[in-house]
Amino acid sequence: MKGIILAGGLGTRLHPLTKITNKHLLPVFDKPMIYYPIQTLINAGIDDILIVTGGNHAGDFLKLLGNGKEFGLKHINYTYQEGEGGIAEALRLAEHFADNKKICVILGDNIIEKNIRSQVNAFKNQKKGSMILLKEVSDPSRFGVPELVGDKVINIEEKPKVPKSKFAVTGIYMYDNTVFDIINEQKPSGRGELEITDVNNAYIKRGEMSWEILDGWWTDAGTFESLRRATNLVAETGANKV
Ligand code: G1P
Repeated sequence: MKGIILAGGLGTRLHPLTKITNKHLLPVFDKPMIYYPIQTLINAGIDDILIVTGGNHAGDFLKLLGNGKEFGLKHINYTYQEGEGGIAEALRLAEHFADNKKICVILGDNIIEKNIRSQVNAFKNQKKGSMILLKEVSDPSRFGVPELVGDKVINIEEKPKVPKSKFAVTGIYMYDNTVFDIINEQKPSGRGELEITDVNNAYIKRGEMSWEILDGWWTDAGTFESLRRATNLVAETGANKV
């Protein structure tokens, strides 16, 4: 399985911090944010990794990470997203890299306490389709929220005013190689972006979506409040435990 980290965007919710650097290079306790999703993939046994960046300061990723020696990697792949086309559009840039293999996608601002090894292994054994990881949160309206009937996710709503469950769809997604066909048929949402939630709903419609609950704490770090929360969680308990 290959790993893809989406680390583009303008990080406008973090202005003025992101005027002078990319969001994913900001510190989360003692490391730049991007270190955490890289470690998440490596701990799950995924060492063939593509970083999709974009916006300003993209060159700084190369300076910071090089070929990934600090992580025990021999090589890291990079690509660049022009403009602000959304998460699914950023993912589309990974089509060539994916090379028809299954992929594990992680948003560059998602940080976890533990690891996703068991879920990645379960997805390796899943014949086709997709897997999402869910986490119970106190503020589901900030996220993609699944509607569950029995043990099935029947729909995901992006940032609903009235959430249909107390779960967030975390920014860790596993897909088979048909994900690029889905993206290529997608239409931009109201805000002009290709939404990852629409990709996931396409898999749900086909009856090809599985889900698991993520172990340990999970947070994003794209707002001042969640960035502070991420820093506190990492400082207090540590992240990416194996
Ligand atoms: C994105 C997704 C959302 C998901 C979240 C996880 O939201 O659109 O479905 O729950 O990441 O971090 P964003 O952080 O871009 O608002």
